Amino acid sequence: MRRKIVAGNWKMNTLLPEGEVLVKQLEFLTEELESDVEIIIAPPFTHLAVLGKYIKETKMKIALAAQNCADQEKGAFTGEVSAAMLRNLGCKFVILGHSERREYYAENNESLYKKINLVINEGMQPIFCVGEKLEERQANRHFEVVAQQIKDVLYRLRGVELDNVIVAYEPVWAIGTGMTATSDQAEEMHAYIRRVIGDKFGEHADRIPILYGGSCKPSNASEIFSKSNVDGGLIGGASLDAQDFVAIVKSF
Ligand code: 13P
Repeated sequence: MRRKIVAGNWKMNTLLPEGEVLVKQLEFLTEELESDVEIIIAPPFTHLAVLGKYIKETKMKIALAAQNCADQEKGAFTGEVSAAMLRNLGCKFVILGHSERREYYAENNESLYKKINLVINEGMQPIFCVGEKLEERQANRHFEVVAQQIKDVLYRLRGVELDNVIVAYEPVWAIGTGMTATSDQAEEMHAYIRRVIGDKFGEHADRIPILYGGSCKPSNASEIFSKSNVDGGLIGGASLDAQDFVAIVKSF
């Protein structure tokens, strides 16, 4: 039985007071929730200290994630935030390699490999994002592209390290576009990702949670989550609405 996870990636949205309201709404909506789904939120860096403290004090069953971290441990790296700093604020997870970071901030595999190690060494779990662009899917290169993203970074880990990793498959053409992958497309890719990981890591691949991300919402979540290789979702837009986000959690 694999873990079930629904994670909300807030991206660069909400001012801190709005983030606080959102967390209080989530607290209210999940108070009575009996669920085996792990709920994670990834607010902007600027919110983590305050929200981390609130989550700890109220003992909410929601875990905190960051959306990125530095690829260096500490020192003269102006503007960067280290894995240790995030751990210290109560983060349990760090999203790494999101397509928006790969595309707009030239995130590369070497840097991602360093980040994954730093996050694992701090006792946190990386949520490692992979996914193809529209033109790559149209050229029927989507399997090849995703396999390469996995090989370039995850293949360099040891099996025990891999056990801390969560993979998120986010087809770039489905992010923020309203164009969701069909549940069959998601299942096909998730099964493929598990096979690629299994080629190198054997049975570790059976345990790794693989989340789907890309225009996931209450109306399509249960269909997508019903697939055997889909272990949850990485939710963007819909995670900014507490009702929608909790409805997605409940659709498992
Ligand atoms: P949307 O749910 O807004 O399409 O975003 C998905 C995503 O990028 C989550 O990381």
